[in-house]
Amino acid sequence: MGELKGRKLVLGVTGGVAAYKAAELVRLLGKAGADVHVVLTEGGARFVTAVTFQALSGNRVWTDLWDPRMDNNMAHIDLTRDADAIIVAPATADVMAKFVHGRADDLLTTLCLARDCPLLVAPAMNRQMWEHPATRRNAAQLRADGVTLLGPAAGEQACGEVGLGRMLEPEELCEAVIGFFQPKLLAGRRVVMTAGPTFEAIDPVRGITNSSSGKMAYGLARACVQAGAEVTLVSGPVALSTPAGCARVNVKSALEMREAVFAALPGADVFIGVAAVADYRPAASAEHKIKKSGEQMSITLTPNPDILADVAGLASPPFCVGFAAESRNLDEYAEGKRKAKKLPLIVGNLVQDGLGGDDNEVVLFDAAGRHPLPKAPKPEVARAIVAHLAGLLPGS
Ligand code: CTP
Repeated sequence: MGELKGRKLVLGVTGGVAAYKAAELVRLLGKAGADVHVVLTEGGARFVTAVTFQALSGNRVWTDLWDPRMDNNMAHIDLTRDADAIIVAPATADVMAKFVHGRADDLLTTLCLARDCPLLVAPAMNRQMWEHPATRRNAAQLRADGVTLLGPAAGEQACGEVGLGRMLEPEELCEAVIGFFQPKLLAGRRVVMTAGPTFEAIDPVRGITNSSSGKMAYGLARACVQAGAEVTLVSGPVALSTPAGCARVNVKSALEMREAVFAALPGADVFIGVAAVADYRPAASAEHKIKKSGEQMSITLTPNPDILADVAGLASPPFCVGFAAESRNLDEYAEGKRKAKKLPLIVGNLVQDGLGGDDNEVVLFDAAGRHPLPKAPKPEVARAIVAHLAGLLPGS
């Protein structure tokens, strides 16, 4: 937490039903340490009242260009004078059109025109409005003008339709804002990662798998994107949505994962093996469901290839990073794996409370020794790992 400490953010809330989610966004940005100042448009105020935003932000809420509360009557300049960014969430099709044309007919549009800080816009509208050629043009023009568009996402909409246009969830928006301020340590780098468990089929309905939520890998993928990398995520079965900006390849078994990794590898600068790959698979997978007989049964297992060791063993491998989850002797086992697999960096963590939690405590092992990182939420740990690995890359 505290990634937005010392940041002053202006949050513009316009008139879309997603305005109710902006209340949660204020809470999350505040929790991350930001000082949030809400500007509510007339339309926004029809959905959520200023009192809600005032209570959540701890700051006065601004709605009116002619508000006499500002000593010099210059709210349109003073509010953004020392702001680090303006975020507009939700942003209606109308406000996007206004930004494109430099309109300044209310406090928010005037602030955006008079600003010298970055503008981040989270569109929220009906699918047909988003797909309309006018909105397509406006979105392209905003990008060309240096505005950052966050989303929209696809999914079920308030109007009952399904499609692209839904505002990103508050958690995703908060992450995107945090990511926006991250140093671009991996700009121009291509990263391939494995994630989640693998599933080794015994028959069409059963299999052997490892316990892995994929949260650490997905957090790391997100952190790599936020650091400016182009990321391919080769993922076993997990219940997580793909981080924005990642190319995701879904696989099930270790053999499929290996094939997808090698297909994605050409041109990669970094390979990170986070997946909990099953070390063994059934020697044969039954074509039909195996019926119980009441007798003991045994399954013959055959070893799976070690994907990470195979990549690190290439003639000119990318910078390879491994993970070692151990239940004891962390230093010995993690460093042992680093050397055995010829890795410049391995991330070790002691699994005490089981996997799948939201926090993680890891130790990094590289040629220079051990580097413990403080226990923190997985996204934060991911950013610390990215910072460390970026410093070890050739040419950095
Ligand atoms: N790994 C891999 N392919 C495998 C097994 C592991 O790519 N078949 C990668 C993991 O993604 C991780 C690292 O190797 O980055 C360490 O995995 P782990 O299973 O802990 O190590 P093993 O070498 O399999 O040792 P053990 O299971 O005996 O602890």
